[in-house]
Amino acid sequence: MKSLAEKFKQTRRQTERLCEPLETEDYIPQPVDFASPPKWHLSHSTWFFEEMILKKFYKDYQIFHPDFSFLFNSYYQTVGERALRTERGVMTRPTVSEVYEYRKYVDEHIEKLLAGEMSQELQDLLTLGINHEQQHQELLITDLKHTLSYNPIHPVYSEGFNLTAQTNGKTGWLKIPEGIYEIGFEREGFHFDNEEGRHKVFLHSFEISEALVTNAEFLEFIEAGGYENFKFWLDEGWSWVNENHISAPLYWQKKDGEWFTFTLEGLQPLKGDHILTHISFYEAQAFAAWKGLRLPTEFEWEAAADQLDWGKRWEWTYSAYLPYPNFKIAEGAVGEYNGKFMISQMVLRGASTATPKGHERKTYRNFFHPKYRWQITGLRLVK
Ligand SMILES: [Fe+2]
Repeated sequence: MKSLAEKFKQTRRQTERLCEPLETEDYIPQPVDFASPPKWHLSHSTWFFEEMILKKFYKDYQIFHPDFSFLFNSYYQTVGERALRTERGVMTRPTVSEVYEYRKYVDEHIEKLLAGEMSQELQDLLTLGINHEQQHQELLITDLKHTLSYNPIHPVYSEGFNLTAQTNGKTGWLKIPEGIYEIGFEREGFHFDNEEGRHKVFLHSFEISEALVTNAEFLEFIEAGGYENFKFWLDEGWSWVNENHISAPLYWQKKDGEWFTFTLEGLQPLKGDHILTHISFYEAQAFAAWKGLRLPTEFEWEAAADQLDWGKRWEWTYSAYLPYPNFKIAEGAVGEYNGKFMISQMVLRGASTATPKGHERKTYRNFFHPKYRWQITGLRLVK
């Protein structure tokens, strides 16, 4: 077992390692409200340690800069006023190097805390801060991909670093018998509050695909007119397709009759055997409907998880993001972490190739609004 101090150092270093291929200009832009610039991720993950830990546990802590709490608070109302999410990309100041100084300052103070006696509360908050930073590592790289995708010269983030070039290891269908299954976190160790409230569910028997849907399978849907036929789509999904002129997964483009996809290695020819990614819940659901099949519920997914090969895509489920029985929102700012988002979002299960190693769990509940597709999403069918 790694010590908390080692985990802290390693996690902080990994965030900076993800930024090594960047030029200063890459740290700034935010083309859309949902994707934040690297500079913001570097600062906000640091702010979390300063705000949630140093201010409370470090004796006579002097904050690094009086404006930073306002600038780098994401959505914590408990903590106070904050800069608009949509304006993260227009902040050219503080500079990138000031942000790295901020990281260094906070790291040095946290490391002093880690060297002393630590209460359970402090250890739990440090563990939460590490897991929070890991979530931002995933967002940093997927947000960056999104920003680079707007550039007509298709920039390469790093040669040989391609998060979406996987194929399936297994094929066929896995049969899960009817029965009562226990859902939710049960072991010792870190987990988010939204996984708590272990409870029983009854499941009818079902078969779940061992493979994730591939690009070639999704191309069949496109070629069969899937995006043009309302009958496969949920009403909201059909409006989304029409209002946004959607005709392929995110980052796909057709040039001279050939399909390409934008990747972190630039624009690449689309490979049929690669696992499909960058689809919305609406597209996942329409594809399943076109196949005459369906998406798993999050409970079916978890019941099958031990026997499935997962961790390549965040898999859309047909479960709304709702509290488990007996879920309670924690007191204070950390209570704003998950609970307040339990509305208008669908659950995704598994993990993706952008998820930091060791961060994944079979009870992990990721969630996004059904229209979003810039994360490394995918789908698995059920019959
Ligand atoms: Fe955050």
